Amino acid sequence: MNLSIIGTGYVGLVTGAVFASKGHTVVCADNDPEKIATLEGGGIPIVEPGLDELVRAQRAAGRLAFTTDIAQAVRSSQVVFICVGTPPRDGSGGADLSSIEHVARAIAPALTSWKLVVEKSTVPVRTGMQVKETIRREAPGAQFDVASNPEFLAEGTAVANALSPDRIVIGVSSDRARETLEELYRPFGAPIIVTDLESAEMIKHASNSFLALKISYVNAVAQLCERAGANVDQVAQGMGLDPRIGPAFLRAGIGYGGSCLPKDVDAFCDLARELGVDFTLLREAQRINTQQRERFQRKIEQALWVVRGKTIGVLGLSFKPGTDDVRESAAIEIAAWLVRQGASVQAHDPVALDKARPLLAGARLVADPYEAARGAHALILATEWEDYREPRLDLVRLRSLVRWPIFLDGRNALDPARMRALGFEYTSVGR
Ligand code: UGA
Repeated sequence: MNLSIIGTGYVGLVTGAVFASKGHTVVCADNDPEKIATLEGGGIPIVEPGLDELVRAQRAAGRLAFTTDIAQAVRSSQVVFICVGTPPRDGSGGADLSSIEHVARAIAPALTSWKLVVEKSTVPVRTGMQVKETIRREAPGAQFDVASNPEFLAEGTAVANALSPDRIVIGVSSDRARETLEELYRPFGAPIIVTDLESAEMIKHASNSFLALKISYVNAVAQLCERAGANVDQVAQGMGLDPRIGPAFLRAGIGYGGSCLPKDVDAFCDLARELGVDFTLLREAQRINTQQRERFQRKIEQALWVVRGKTIGVLGLSFKPGTDDVRESAAIEIAAWLVRQGASVQAHDPVALDKARPLLAGARLVADPYEAARGAHALILATEWEDYREPRLDLVRLRSLVRWPIFLDGRNALDPARMRALGFEYTSVGR
């Protein structure tokens, strides 16, 4: 099939490359000429394992192309995937859907023969309906259907997730739309759930919000564990073996970040408010998430007594390992807080330094974890990269470089017994 993908962010680029690898002809369009120039020059604007190779191979095979001409991309394709960003709207908590609306208007005149317009961006329920309405208003004779096909890939494992999804959700209002998407997705071998548009949209927000809820739940349990002298890792393991609960997303720490969970929980809360439904439960999940970072800051203060004037090494800046994305990163928030407190921050990340730089004016970004440790009064592990664990990291060397042996592990990434044996005053979360 001929496919066009509008928006070349994490979702768009990965989706385009993966569909191309299944033999489809894909054009990825974006209105950012710089991004398209990078892609056309063989560069990849994001760090995502496996993406570089996949894009290169599909371009070489002639199945993947890039353009800034959105209308032309649409005209040449049978299915149009909208994969543009839906960032938080200033102040309100809802999602900013102006890019989606803009795409709907831009593609409308190009829908001269039947095409399926698929929203893949994470959007609040009823966006599909709005897209339909907008296209109809803009081009009354347009031949099209709108479907919702939310994406569940996670950054850092996006290519693997897109190649072997755990489920495919297709929200449609016609048989033709259903058949088209079923044909596209059958080769992936995953269960296909066919729903109406609204339910598909709801599945996405309900899923991400549930993941956030799980993390906040375990973080609240971690607070209890600290007071009761229990170990949250053992508690989570004991809970997770119950198949009704499951082991995933029960890692306690400094809370969830990224471009999805915080924004999607916000948008779901906003939707609940708009529809007059009391969803205080989700607000609590957000509150616990914020509290988790503040509690960690209190731990830093307790360990150091006075933060101002101290040298503090921060290990990890991306919102999670495997990505250079620093949006809503808890690590960045803590590093920026330390700078505001008057500490000298020396921070390291294996891949996110460039993206972190504009957010951490006043911090020294260093090339390796040992530089972050040199002369530090405290070390903080904020993102659990493998690079910060033995054997990749020489903890003995790290210990020899710090001025004071204070180590605060915000991700429970290291073994407390080992850290104490090395002479660190080691603190983590909920254990
Ligand atoms: C999330 C969802 O996991 C994907 O299924 C979804 O498709 C994606 O959002 C999206 O909507 O596009 P992502 O934001 O890439 O994916 O990252 P996650 O792996 O969900 O991690 C989110 C945050 O939660 C990270 O900051 C991570 O450190 C934190 N986390 C995760 C925990 O604190 N504890 C855990 O047990 C798991």
